[in-house]
Amino acid sequence: MKPLVVGNWKMHGTQHEAVALAREVLKGLRGRRRVDVVLAPPFTALGPVRKTLRGSALRLAGQNVHWEEQGAFTGEISAKMLRELGCHFAIVGHSERRRLFNETDQTVAKKLAACLRSGLRPILCVGETLEQRNAGATRRVITRQLRIALKGMTKDAIEKIEIAYEPVWAIGTGRNATPEQASRAHATIRRMLKKLFGTKRAEQTRILYGGSVRADNAGELACAREVNGLLVGGASLKAKDFLSIIGNFS
Ligand code: 13P
Repeated sequence: MKPLVVGNWKMHGTQHEAVALAREVLKGLRGRRRVDVVLAPPFTALGPVRKTLRGSALRLAGQNVHWEEQGAFTGEISAKMLRELGCHFAIVGHSERRRLFNETDQTVAKKLAACLRSGLRPILCVGETLEQRNAGATRRVITRQLRIALKGMTKDAIEKIEIAYEPVWAIGTGRNATPEQASRAHATIRRMLKKLFGTKRAEQTRILYGGSVRADNAGELACAREVNGLLVGGASLKAKDFLSIIGNFS
């Protein structure tokens, strides 16, 4: 399975800065074909970054998406609009969206379905809080998030979905999960996928790890069991660090 590294730029960067960063990443990547690389700039920069990436193998992702195709939803963006801007992927259910913008497992499920209807590959994020981990509820939380988000999906839908395990306590804290912790959570996810979609499909699904991935810890996370790629926040804003992270897979 081809690994996938995603740079989630969150709410950082003007169009000018975004284009400069995309250019640097693109330049540094020349010739690397053994890893899929996806950039998720802010919505405002999608158009300009798309032009920068034209003709390359780099792909774009939206950081969020609404479940309706259009309508009176002030401030939202649809899957169709993201497709029009050149996105192939969308991040769905990021913990910052769940925590700060009240997204629930149910709305995450609707967003996931909207992506699939429009031909966007969703990157479905799941992960537990520190309280949940300390209470021994990690497995329960992750399987609930997956079960609700993936409810009613046809068996082959999973071929169009990426999963990201992002423990909330590791995001932006400088405290990454250990490779062992990541492997365990990924194995839980894989088991759940097998139950829902069958062994063969589940084994082909990419499960990314995200949460304080840096140039100095990406190596051990990249080769941890069941880790098929990385979802990088802060470190993806520096081309040199992001390229070094990607370098672990190519
Ligand atoms: P950091 O890499 O900054 O911890 O963010 C991770 C993340 O949320 C990626 O989606």
